[in-house]
Amino acid sequence: MDSNSTQDGLIQIANVTRAYTVGARKLFALRGVSLAIAAGEFVALVGPSGSGKSTLLNLISGIDKPDAGDVCVDGARLNTMSENALAKWRGTQIGIVFQFFQLLPTLTALENVMLPMELRNTFGAQRRARALAALERVGLAEHATQLPSELSGGEQQRVAIARALVNDPPILLADEPTGNLDSETGARVVTLLNELRAAGKTIVLVTHEEALARVASRRVRVRDGQIVD
Ligand SMILES: Nc1ncnc2c1ncn2[C@@H]1O[C@H](COP(=O)(O)OP(=O)(O)OP(=O)(O)O)[C@@H](O)[C@H]1O
Ligand SMILES: [Mg+2]
Repeated sequence: MDSNSTQDGLIQIANVTRAYTVGARKLFALRGVSLAIAAGEFVALVGPSGSGKSTLLNLISGIDKPDAGDVCVDGARLNTMSENALAKWRGTQIGIVFQFFQLLPTLTALENVMLPMELRNTFGAQRRARALAALERVGLAEHATQLPSELSGGEQQRVAIARALVNDPPILLADEPTGNLDSETGARVVTLLNELRAAGKTIVLVTHEEALARVASRRVRVRDGQIVD
């Protein structure tokens, strides 16, 4: 029973609850979730719409905080850290691909990818080169100077992936990273994920796609704010 809250997890989530107040109702997005993910694991979070997958991912990145319970990542207890400390920590430890990309609309693809380096002491010329290399990795080097509004949905998604990888973080969190991609580009992202896993990254991704879930080393099923297996 407690195999999900062992000491050796890189990511340790213990008895986490997260509820939203909507009008007079209290809506439980997560109800007592415990989960441990070891370094180097590739976990796929699967489950129906509204089951709590994105909420869980946002707790692991410290973007959101639980109402109760603990979230520890590599020894850092996120739920007790300040926003400042969290932002700094996140910048080096975690790459995030959001469900709805969250690119800044007034910045070019290249500038969006350069953003995570703002928090690090990377030199200007190096920033450009690294951001370009990340865009190249997702096949978008020739689109570097376009704004998000001038890119297709799939291209925006790939810019978001490049941004998540540019600081070479040990942990990658991705919410439906192939949701807007054609099968060829989706396959390319799967290849990229496999490379990252081979390089020792810890990956947690949310997906509705069985083919993508099968690539993971473990599938965790979420339903009604709980982990069901
Ligand atoms: N900011 C919010 N305010 C109120 N309720 C919210 C908020 N964010 C999420 N919820 C609710 O919490 C529940 C879990 O949402 P969550 O986004 O984690 O689901 P999900 O599993 O990611 O779904 P999907 O597959 O559709 O993305 C849903 O019922 C949702 O309506
Ligand atoms: Mg979601």
